[in-house]
Amino acid sequence: MLYGIFSDPHSNLEGLQAALEECRKAGAEKLVCCGDIVGYNADPAACVDLVRGNNVICIRGNHERGLQDLKNGLLPPMNAYALEAIRYSYEKLDEERRSWLVSLPDELLVDGIFYVFHGSPFHPDEYIFELVEAAYAFRALVNDYPPPGNSLCFIGHTHVCAAYAFDPEGRKVQGSEVAEDTTYLLKPGYHYMFNAGSCGQYRGGKPVSSLVLFDSDHMTVSFRLLPYDVEKAQRKVLESGLPPFLALRLGQGR
Ligand SMILES: [Fe+2]
Repeated sequence: MLYGIFSDPHSNLEGLQAALEECRKAGAEKLVCCGDIVGYNADPAACVDLVRGNNVICIRGNHERGLQDLKNGLLPPMNAYALEAIRYSYEKLDEERRSWLVSLPDELLVDGIFYVFHGSPFHPDEYIFELVEAAYAFRALVNDYPPPGNSLCFIGHTHVCAAYAFDPEGRKVQGSEVAEDTTYLLKPGYHYMFNAGSCGQYRGGKPVSSLVLFDSDHMTVSFRLLPYDVEKAQRKVLESGLPPFLALRLGQGR
């Protein structure tokens, strides 16, 4: 089975369309999103409709939980830009779409093969940037989520592609950011975490839409960093009245 896995579309329709098109071209049979469908950019409703229309298996991220907070009259724990954008998403979504987003699960086991989390198996809001954070996450993954074979999960939240491996015999965690198209062959007995980056607000220093393709027959994971129509997405952010910084960062990939 070939899985197309992406994360953090964040209401960027052009970035999401590019990721879906790449999945289609590659022949992906199942699609997975690791959360944060809305927030930051101009097209929350269109992005919700696109993931639902393509039967994407979704979990919710902190921005979906932000919608829930707003609904409950609470201030989501976010910076000022993210807060302004999640208020925009809230206003642009109707009640049916909002309810669908907030009712998504925080984590999933897909086909008994791999887990999907937003931030980390340790906590949905936890960022994994450093090896020590990856080590904590592996401990949670291996202890709390019984391995179906390899312990394997896909995450997002940092908006940067990354690959981490844990060798239980040597008790060694290895890994790093993935900055270009790269394919990994998974070794038996090892545990893995792959961060799909973001198809809607990539922060690895390039204006791209990122995703991974997981081939469960050959046990390979391939990263794809794709060009997309960044200028169109930026123009829509500016026209929508969202903070101009959110358009700027799309062009910088930050
Ligand atoms: Fe995000």
